[in-house]
Amino acid sequence: MKGVLILLMVAGSTAFAVEAPKPVPFGATADGTPVDVYTLTNAHGLRLRAMTYGGIVLSLEVPDRHGKLADVVLGYGSLAEYVKRSPYFGAVVGRYGNRIAKGTFNVGGREYSLALNNSPGGNKCALHGGIRGFDKVVWKGEGLVQDGSQGVRFTYLSKDGEEGYPGNLAVSVTYLLTDLNEWQVVYELRTDKATPVNVTQHSYFNLKGEGSDDILGHELKIVASKYTPVDAGMIPTGELAPVSGTPFDFTIFQAIGARVNLRHEQLTFGAGYDHNWVLDSQSGDLAFAASVHEPGSGRTMDVFTTEPGIQFYCGNFLDGSLTGKSGNTYKSRNGFCLETQHFPDSPNKDAFPSTLLEPGQARQSKTVFRFSAR
Ligand code: GLA
Repeated sequence: MKGVLILLMVAGSTAFAVEAPKPVPFGATADGTPVDVYTLTNAHGLRLRAMTYGGIVLSLEVPDRHGKLADVVLGYGSLAEYVKRSPYFGAVVGRYGNRIAKGTFNVGGREYSLALNNSPGGNKCALHGGIRGFDKVVWKGEGLVQDGSQGVRFTYLSKDGEEGYPGNLAVSVTYLLTDLNEWQVVYELRTDKATPVNVTQHSYFNLKGEGSDDILGHELKIVASKYTPVDAGMIPTGELAPVSGTPFDFTIFQAIGARVNLRHEQLTFGAGYDHNWVLDSQSGDLAFAASVHEPGSGRTMDVFTTEPGIQFYCGNFLDGSLTGKSGNTYKSRNGFCLETQHFPDSPNKDAFPSTLLEPGQARQSKTVFRFSAR
């Protein structure tokens, strides 16, 4: 009798216990470094797969208003395709996400120069951490359970001088998939020399399901009364301009496509929306930043962040030349990104919130993507 009871208890606990996701091999990079994938699930059947290469989120399945799951992030089916060419699909971007003018900055009286890997309008700049940014390196992975949710932590040591940046930077990103249908993203950063840091998550979302169609009918709200206009090289002018009366006003829900093709100098520079919004909350506390609703499926994504800015990019550079995991090509505006961040070119803009991380400081940054349907 006693034995049966113990057996029942053991069986019960294995049925309900949340276990740490285990690494599953997902191929190797060209130099033979093995890459693993981790699968996170929650009590409502949401599923997120992420790999150690670039911390890339490979898929994210969330329900519509009838409970039907769809994969709402763009991406490929194999590691080889990510290695070959990817516009940062699902990746962790760093050491400095977004642009640094002329690829130079000054720390402590010393000038640093980075690879010039982007040239909007013919003006060269550094973009997304360089030639081999955080999106192209293999991280160390560790499956975990935190507060009853499955998660994975990716860690990476970016060496002093890597891609031209000063200091050994220890970076970790933790993804959690909670039973509140939240994908939580937490970055933790430490350095041994002062360095600018701006890490973000570059998932392209399509709440209808990836590969299905464009995102122009998605309705977007951004809790920001200002944005940072750019010059022809996509570098902020330094001004914090009011969104009011412009196609950049998303303080109330607006279809992404409603004004994207209006004649507006800023939309010309970005070939559409590809700008940083200055979030109304600048406190550093986790605050509601944006919401996207797809009327057909009812899927909604709310974004919360501790960051002061958000880059809203509506997939202007997707041109049909990339074929996604379900065999469909990704055409212009078939996905959008909401990259929570510090403002672009902050290392050269004293008036912007500082991105400088000093030795001895431990910086944490958190972003939450919460899914629902209505
Ligand atoms: C960011 C940039 C864009 C573009 C994409 C990737 O959103 O702001 O200009 O580089 O990443 O294609």
